[in-house]
Amino acid sequence: AVDLDKCYAQMNQLVDKAAKLMKEASTKMRLYDTKGNNTADLVTATDREIEQLLIKGLMEHFPDHVYIGEEGTGGAATGRKLTDAPTWIIDPIDGTTNFVHGLHYTCISVGFWLNKQPELAICCNPMIGQKFTARRNCGAYMNGVQIEASGQTELEKSIILNELNSANFEPELMAIQMGNSQKMLEKAHALRTTGSAAMDLCLVAMGAADGYYEFYPHCWDTAAGVLLVREAGGVVIDPAGGEFDVMGRRVLAAATPQLGEQMVKLLGDMQIYHARDDEP
Ligand code: IPD
Repeated sequence: AVDLDKCYAQMNQLVDKAAKLMKEASTKMRLYDTKGNNTADLVTATDREIEQLLIKGLMEHFPDHVYIGEEGTGGAATGRKLTDAPTWIIDPIDGTTNFVHGLHYTCISVGFWLNKQPELAICCNPMIGQKFTARRNCGAYMNGVQIEASGQTELEKSIILNELNSANFEPELMAIQMGNSQKMLEKAHALRTTGSAAMDLCLVAMGAADGYYEFYPHCWDTAAGVLLVREAGGVVIDPAGGEFDVMGRRVLAAATPQLGEQMVKLLGDMQIYHARDDEP
């Protein structure tokens, strides 16, 4: 059987270490590489260092678990299939572009899944001293204080978050993104973009934003945040309605099911489907 207490204790300790490293690196952080031929997909030495620290540290205690990390380092299996096996899904730095630019919306995201369900989650933003934690059925917390989603049921009274991705620059996809943004802007109090999908989910969990949707995030961007939102009383679904699929590169989070439905209705058939994370 999986010892969830032990898993949680180890991830907590390791995330604290990683947070220290991230904070220290942030003062000198301007160097980056780009991934593949996407000039806007950035990675730094700190992303790789933190991923190694987390995965190696966890592997010492849980050698049989499955590890999925954004940067594919740490000597771990990097296969992206989600099975019933205990699985750690890790983004060493979510919001790397913000990190590189010194914009402090960025975090370490670690989600632990079992039987294809999120069990444990930590999103830690050491830049602004916010650590979000959740265990399934035990509530969501920021720095040890319980948090709740806003309870907002009306899109007209909501702050909505969305990430616009340069990877979507093909004109038709851009038009869909912009069309969706316009529709949200016409209805909601405001539309914001933070640059970190994981932080967006934390903002919905703490009630500072009411909804968030994105057609693009990878499993490591959402694996922790979705549990935070649910444990804070919010909902996470697919942007076209129906169940959220962590490998599906699509997410919609809302403070209430009513708000979620209104967002789904507004998006309508203006949907984007990227290649799934579990496709070869
Ligand atoms: C990205 C950020 C961005 C979101 C993308 C993510 P990364 O993560 O969260 O805001 O729009 O979907 O991939 O690459 O900085 O870890």
